[in-house]
Amino acid sequence: MTQDELKQAVARAARDYVADRLPIGGILGVGTGSTANFFIDEIAAIKDRLGGTVASSEVTAQRLRGHGIRVLDLNDVDAMGIYVDGADEIDASMAMVKGGGGALTREKIVAAVAETFVCICDASKRVPVMGRFPLPVEVIPMSRAHVGRELAKLGGTPKLRDGFVTDNGNLILDVHGLSITDPVGLEDRINQIVGVVTNGLFARRGADVLLLATEDGVRTFSR
Ligand code: A5P
Repeated sequence: MTQDELKQAVARAARDYVADRLPIGGILGVGTGSTANFFIDEIAAIKDRLGGTVASSEVTAQRLRGHGIRVLDLNDVDAMGIYVDGADEIDASMAMVKGGGGALTREKIVAAVAETFVCICDASKRVPVMGRFPLPVEVIPMSRAHVGRELAKLGGTPKLRDGFVTDNGNLILDVHGLSITDPVGLEDRINQIVGVVTNGLFARRGADVLLLATEDGVRTFSR
């Protein structure tokens, strides 16, 4: 199977998960990235069951609207049953590195509101120790150099994501060379650096369910 076929398969499994578990009229959070895009295309078929969606990025909101799917402002939502999103890496504790698409801050906010975070990815994303994928950190522009120096003290090599501005008007530093053996501890330490908006470690609020696309079918893991 190609990687796109795996993404398609897991997107379909996530659509079925939502159709089975989200009450009719419930609110669905929708993530960002190529796997999430397959998922958006799949939920067009069940859009009449949804009370609405909350998008984790402008690009996701546009794709949802393109299918005629209702997109709500998170501030107008009291509760969200399920949030479905991809990941760049996920470990056995269901902690993730996210933000390859630069939407990490909005993703973390939506994830904080959701009752159940369903991570969808192909088997290549499941790793014993995270860090091979550079860890994205969103920073306020004037703090870029300061945050970079502090990240280097933690053992990483930060690189500015060239020509990229987040939906929130900020910059991304991609931190290379980390071996993330303590995801919760590192998430907390990076959050303490002044000028950091969010880091791409989703360890304190990891996934509750992982739908993992493998050559033998989609496997389900729960926390
Ligand atoms: C977006 O900012 C990310 O967190 C994505 O969820 C992550 O990069 C996975 O993207 P793909 O599905 O494109 O691999």
